[in-house]
Amino acid sequence: MTDFDLIKLRDFILAKTGIYIDDDKLFKIYKRKFEDFIQKQGFDDFSSFYNRLVFKKDEHLLQELINLTTVNETYFFREAYQFKTLVEEVLSELDGLRPPHESINILTAPSSSGEELYSIAIYIMEYAKEIFYKRDFVLVGIDIDSVMIQKARQGIFNQRSVSKIPPHLLQKYFIKEGNQYKIIDEIRKGLTFKVVNVMDFYAMKKLGRFDVIFSRNMLIYFDEKTRKEILATFHALLKPHGYLFLGHAEKVPVEMEIFKRVKKGESIIYQKA
Ligand SMILES: C[S@@+](CC[C@H](N)C(=O)[O-])C[C@H]1O[C@@H](n2cnc3c(N)ncnc32)[C@H](O)[C@@H]1O
Repeated sequence: MTDFDLIKLRDFILAKTGIYIDDDKLFKIYKRKFEDFIQKQGFDDFSSFYNRLVFKKDEHLLQELINLTTVNETYFFREAYQFKTLVEEVLSELDGLRPPHESINILTAPSSSGEELYSIAIYIMEYAKEIFYKRDFVLVGIDIDSVMIQKARQGIFNQRSVSKIPPHLLQKYFIKEGNQYKIIDEIRKGLTFKVVNVMDFYAMKKLGRFDVIFSRNMLIYFDEKTRKEILATFHALLKPHGYLFLGHAEKVPVEMEIFKRVKKGESIIYQKA
């Protein structure tokens, strides 16, 4: 692949997914990955691959390329102080605001292989029992990576992924199968995981409205323009007074006054203004 080919492919991926691959990673890591991929997919050269991807709009090839490009690092109870804020502060506030028959809807966008949404479910069942028994909860996870969504639906995790879960909760909510940990069906069957691109506004709108959105450790891979567009999408999906949780390295730019920055517990979170 020439440098020109690489940059063309980077621009295409950016337009489709919002993911910006900087020069350093592009030339040091992704060049080799893309070359191997193109060869394994059976193309003789870059131009026949690019032609199939861009002009013939091969959806399967695009999905495989996306699955190769994404960074999916995640684990249970990551930045757990935010889950504590959710159950100790946010849920009780929303419970007071919403009519009693209404469900509390929570979205993780992106969910990767599901650990974040399952962590939220465990926190709610464990530490917000009163609200959990009183109300319905709708928990939805989305990701652009179809392999990760498949994994999330299966609910089987390795030792590294569950290592931050306290032993008594690991025992309560998982079944050990060899070296793996399977989340109990009572939780697994209650959650929904879907392949959705956050850049696809109509697919996002179809998910419904949410009281709380977690979007952690994805926007850091996006350029500033895309970041703002996605934040506006989250704003549109949130119900009045709903909350947005971001990763510790992410924030809503101050000029985006559609969100109010608030400190709750140990977390800085954003409320729909
Ligand atoms: C590092 S993981 C973060 C997972 C989880 N939120 C966490 O903090 O542990 C980033 C995820 O963002 C997903 N992603 C990247 N671009 C996306 C897009 N345009 N739409 C939906 N998901 C996307 C990737 O597939 C990847 O699984």
